[in-house]
Amino acid sequence: VPLETQGQNLTQDVLDLLDTKETLQSNEDFPAVPQRDIKAALDRLASRSMVEYKTLDKEQVNLTPESEGIVANGSHEFKVWKAVKEAGKIAIKELPSIVGKESASVGQGNAFKNKWIKKDGTDLVLVATEEPEDSMQKLLKGIQESQTVSDAKQLNDLKKKRLVTVTKVITYTVTKGPKYAKEMPVEHTDLTADLLASGAWETANFKPYNFAALGAQQDAGALHPLMKVRQEFRNIFFSQGFVEMPTGHFVDSGFWNFDALFVPQQHPARDMQDTFFVSDPPTADKPRADPDSERQMDQMEASSQRLFSTGDKREKKPRDFEKYWNDVKKVHEDGAFGSIGYRYKFKDEETLRLVLRTHTTAVSTWALHRLAEDPRPARYFSIDRVFRNETVDATHLAEFHQIEGVIADFGLTLGGLQRFLGDFFANMGLENLRFKPAYNPYTEPSMEIFGYHKGLKRWIEIGNSGMFRPEMLEPMGLPKDMRVYGFGLSLERPTMMKYGVSNIRELLGHKVDLSWIKEQPAVRFDKE
Ligand code: PHE
Repeated sequence: VPLETQGQNLTQDVLDLLDTKETLQSNEDFPAVPQRDIKAALDRLASRSMVEYKTLDKEQVNLTPESEGIVANGSHEFKVWKAVKEAGKIAIKELPSIVGKESASVGQGNAFKNKWIKKDGTDLVLVATEEPEDSMQKLLKGIQESQTVSDAKQLNDLKKKRLVTVTKVITYTVTKGPKYAKEMPVEHTDLTADLLASGAWETANFKPYNFAALGAQQDAGALHPLMKVRQEFRNIFFSQGFVEMPTGHFVDSGFWNFDALFVPQQHPARDMQDTFFVSDPPTADKPRADPDSERQMDQMEASSQRLFSTGDKREKKPRDFEKYWNDVKKVHEDGAFGSIGYRYKFKDEETLRLVLRTHTTAVSTWALHRLAEDPRPARYFSIDRVFRNETVDATHLAEFHQIEGVIADFGLTLGGLQRFLGDFFANMGLENLRFKPAYNPYTEPSMEIFGYHKGLKRWIEIGNSGMFRPEMLEPMGLPKDMRVYGFGLSLERPTMMKYGVSNIRELLGHKVDLSWIKEQPAVRFDKE
């Protein structure tokens, strides 16, 4: 029977029964109907004032199979007494084979304690009383009938001995309401044009609204917490005039990922242990303009300029990728632009190897080279995936997301970078930043960033930063007096802090629990 009809039948059953008697008792009149169904039917009727009902919560004491056995055959001690009585005289060790193991062990002690049996010598027993009163059996028989135990201590005792269990029963006492009728009246669910035109609406019987009904469960999609936090960071960047860089391509060449960043070709980061190399195809073209990225970046810049530009038209000096390549090679091999270089044999093949990008700084480099067409103050950011050949554990994955920002301007100082980072991280509730000298091949000076997390009440490492080296910026053709800040952090770290995730694999990768994602709060930053 479909649930809906079942419910209607029950509703009608209640009305029918109330026609024959004054008061219904749900446990007696509908013993087999689940409590939830009976309540639904009663609510339907009560909301129309057709019935009134009261709810009674009661504890019901039930016998267990063991105590049912005692009611039928007597207590363990009674069985022991009976066995001894029938035998006249019996050895203790023979009891289990007559009354069963359990009755022998429990009953024997009690029978002695009650003075129903007594010892004869060391291991023989005799009865010590005629017809003892089996009070345990009597007690349980009473409980079986009343389904209650009034003495709380006694109830506890019986529960501990596993002789009774307690269940909660809800009983409804139902009487007729002021609008009782033998049948549910026809109800209108809509106010129609006909009802209005005919005037029937004035006397029509409308189905009451059920304001307590829960809405239907929506099977909607949900944004992943990482994507929510990413959007929050985006908003912070946008509000400060940053332009988003195109990071859609995960594969890049050694040139953009390493060489252009003045990372020497024998640097450990370029080992197979640290970087994923692409085997098919294994090599890239020499660096050249990428129309897709170009178009995306043009769009992002155009929309940002509507907000921040002074509106003047500027001359552009097109990029010369060949010269860039040669200058990067020169600065590594022999030194240039006032640097003595690394002085090793630069291998073109190494530069052309395809890699899964190990940092988004590969894209920042591309954007800064592009900026050299028209060097001017600029702010760029990106938030996207990077890949490292790491051993996976609770805090490391072979892929994660980097948040990265670069700021190019004239006359920038390290103090300005610290100030900028202080303001930036304050948005995340991190205060009193501390900076620790660090090393990156492409920045000098370099600083690790630490912040005091008010929520967690401890110092945490939050990122890496620095001022890009002239060895990186000058081959691009950027003016000598232009300085560029750079900083990067993972997106996973702040997300884990915010959502209380201790294992990164719960957040990203194949172990992510989709229902957990659906239940996460939608807002990243707590309002003060
Ligand atoms: N690329 C660095 C990293 O992977 C972050 C960084 C970006 C550092 C820019 C300095 C400047 O951690």
